[in-house]
Amino acid sequence: MRDSRETFVNHAFVTGYPIKHSRSPLIHGYWLKQLGIAGSYRAHEVAPEAFPDFMRRLRDGSAGFCGGNVTIPHKEMAFELSDRPDELSAELGAANTLWLEDGRISATNTDGRGFVANLDERASGWDRISTAVILGAGGASRAVIQAVRDRGVRTIHVVNRTTARAQELADRFGEAVEAHPIEALSEVMADAGLFVNTTSLGMDGEPAPSIDFSPLATGAVVTDIVYVPLKTPLLRQAEEQGFRIVDGLGMLLHQAVPGFEKWFGRRPVVDETLRQVIIKDM
Ligand code: ATR
Repeated sequence: MRDSRETFVNHAFVTGYPIKHSRSPLIHGYWLKQLGIAGSYRAHEVAPEAFPDFMRRLRDGSAGFCGGNVTIPHKEMAFELSDRPDELSAELGAANTLWLEDGRISATNTDGRGFVANLDERASGWDRISTAVILGAGGASRAVIQAVRDRGVRTIHVVNRTTARAQELADRFGEAVEAHPIEALSEVMADAGLFVNTTSLGMDGEPAPSIDFSPLATGAVVTDIVYVPLKTPLLRQAEEQGFRIVDGLGMLLHQAVPGFEKWFGRRPVVDETLRQVIIKDM
């Protein structure tokens, strides 16, 4: 029996609105070339009001794709309009990876897997910690919380400018997650082994926050999902204070792996050359 990959001849997309700044075509293009696969992966801009129709055409095959990635602002709609969302995307209420199977759209969310794969690669042993602090309570924060909890971190402090949003996450994820106002940051950092920035603070053009990391446990890991610049002001501060730092580029690269494998049938590797390809484009 022919599977959907054969039927739709290896064409995948990334859609968002806008989409022209997405680096995903560079990542998948690199792997397609490296593995010698005759497929394509391209940016396909879809406005929010046109997204339901895009999903319909994806499902009936007229869009000509075997699957693809979905980014802002379509992640929630992609989950809602998919036919077979997995447990990860269902818990988050958002999907970033879609693929066709027997005329049905399957959906998952790979952001959390990308996050932990990056830490596994660059901060081995990070998951022996029991307490993590996560700054921010948006969509990215959710995926990070889920992934860290699933790796056994027992206490996850979520700190956010708008405390009510942190509380929503605590309610959603249950007892492992505690919500705090931003004023409590220093206090909850005491003896934590992992600090994650999931806000846009420190991104190019954004004001740099000043955070004193000294309350963290000795040898703690500080990471940022922002990857432009690679070493954010926050990571620089943490490094100066003697902590292990991990930049956010690896999360972007690793979150792309499961989709590529679904659409093109081969598991790609995140290598140093790929990192350099993306860095050159920044
Ligand atoms: P994403 O889906 O990418 O995580 P989001 O849902 O817009 O994006 O969430 C952005 C996060 O960055 C939020 O936690 C936001 O705080 P609020 O919930 O209080 O808005 C946080 N954030 C953005 N700009 C910030 C700033 N200048 N200071 C503090 N937090 C900020």
